[in-house]
Amino acid sequence: MERYHLTRSFNSEGYDLTIAEIDLHDPTLIPVLTELDLLSYAEPTFSRYTLGGLMRFGRVFVIRADELIIGACHTFRSFDDPEEIVIFNMALRPGWRGHGLGTRLLAGVLERLRDHGIKRVVLAVASNNHRAIAVYRMKFGFQQVDLLANEFNNGQGYHLLRLELSAWSGQN
Ligand SMILES: CC(C)(COP(=O)(O)OP(=O)(O)OC[C@H]1O[C@@H](n2cnc3c(N)ncnc32)[C@H](O)[C@@H]1OP(=O)(O)O)[C@@H](O)C(=O)NCCC(=O)NCCS
Repeated sequence: MERYHLTRSFNSEGYDLTIAEIDLHDPTLIPVLTELDLLSYAEPTFSRYTLGGLMRFGRVFVIRADELIIGACHTFRSFDDPEEIVIFNMALRPGWRGHGLGTRLLAGVLERLRDHGIKRVVLAVASNNHRAIAVYRMKFGFQQVDLLANEFNNGQGYHLLRLELSAWSGQN
């Protein structure tokens, strides 16, 4: 069995960049995924237990530059709608941001989700995260479906965004 299902590969600035779906539970990835999370947010999103659970029962996608994991996208299926996937988190290592790689990662993820027969994707993004909102809305056509005033009990507003995969051109 494969450990990774390659969704896309390309070359950028001398690096071989690959996007892969982690098909099999791989606990050795937990430290690097934890580090990536801690580099990205003031407060940790994951513990080894949530990452282990997401890898086994959800689906995790990674982008690598040569051998280094430089970004990840963590997903799980929506309880209310089995044809819908929740993007729980997506992040790149800081130095790799702003070069189009988040767009590439998300395109690889959506392509693969579509192959799995998923019909729509939903996520919550902080209202002040203008770069992420630009990626989701401007580049992929995610629609704002709600404003969440205090979703995580931190007083921060979030946009609830949804994309019907049939409306995505796949051209990113
Ligand atoms: C969000 C994230 C994954 C996006 O990946 P990225 O590689 O940085 O994004 P890209 O380079 O593909 O695209 C960014 C786009 O946003 C635009 N942008 C950047 N800052 C912006 C701002 N303040 N307002 C509006 N648009 C902005 C850029 O111009 C670019 O669009 P362009 O290519 O048309 O110029 C990455 O920045 C990241 O890891 N951020 C920290 C973690 C995070 O916030 N994750 C999202 C949680 S839901």
